[in-house]
Amino acid sequence: MANPMPNPTSNDLSANTPATLATHTPATAATVKKSAKKPAKSGQKLTWLGPAIVVGCLIPILGLIWDGYHDLLGANPVQRVLLQTGRIALILLLASLACTPAKIVLGWTWPLRIRKALGLLAFGYASMHMITYVVVDHGFKLKVILEDVLKRPFITVGFLAVLIMVPLAITSTKGMVKKLGFVKWQRLHRWVYLAAGFASLHFFLQVKKDVREPLIFAAILAVFFAVRGFAAWRKRKEIKEKAARATPI
Ligand code: HEM
Repeated sequence: MANPMPNPTSNDLSANTPATLATHTPATAATVKKSAKKPAKSGQKLTWLGPAIVVGCLIPILGLIWDGYHDLLGANPVQRVLLQTGRIALILLLASLACTPAKIVLGWTWPLRIRKALGLLAFGYASMHMITYVVVDHGFKLKVILEDVLKRPFITVGFLAVLIMVPLAITSTKGMVKKLGFVKWQRLHRWVYLAAGFASLHFFLQVKKDVREPLIFAAILAVFFAVRGFAAWRKRKEIKEKAARATPI
């Protein structure tokens, strides 16, 4: 998922040792020199951040369990659970996708520490959302579910989003990065944007009248995508220029 992943490139803080960064642009190397003296605020240890995010993100599900136990889920409890888990899954997915643009635009590195946790939490909520639909709402009647998937486009795209998220979650361990090789792994994990696109479309198609909210989600996703695209284009350009300068005439 977005990047539910330890990214061994400059995006991954744990990999951002002075040695690895020194191989990047002169500006980056200078930043490292500075941070070697005094760690930048955004690069401080912040060991509490990951656990805090996990605990914080589990509160809504505990709230749902509490409300369910005390019969407080309203007239349509299944719908309440579906709407809440779906919305949280999308928010967390976008939050995980915000981490790299935050580094690119604002220079913050701390969000990279929680990117993987956010991606996996998004997958967790999306799984709960899907299980609620398959098991609670449709009693695991696979024929009815398949008909629904084929008939209702918003369900089709929801399934596609989950389907893409599965291999991303499975390959989110450091061991899998090693096994796949970073380039392959990175290529696979770019699919997170498609998953987020499908999830946003799913939200858009599900809304009956007021589409403003799904459009805001889609616009945020488009901005993140554009920032990543621009950064990749700039990096490629820099590499080309360096290569041109290094080539003897
Ligand atoms: C198997 C895949 C999925 C199925 C079957 C599914 C099913 C549903 C259903 C039935 C609803 C509408 C509930 C209602 O109006 O009564 C819904 C809403 C929603 N779903 Fe999904 N969904 C799936 C995947 C996803 C994924 C992967 C995400 C996000 C990552 C997501 C996000 C949402 C959102 C944001 C809503 C609307 C919430 C709101 O209006 O507050 N869904 N989904």
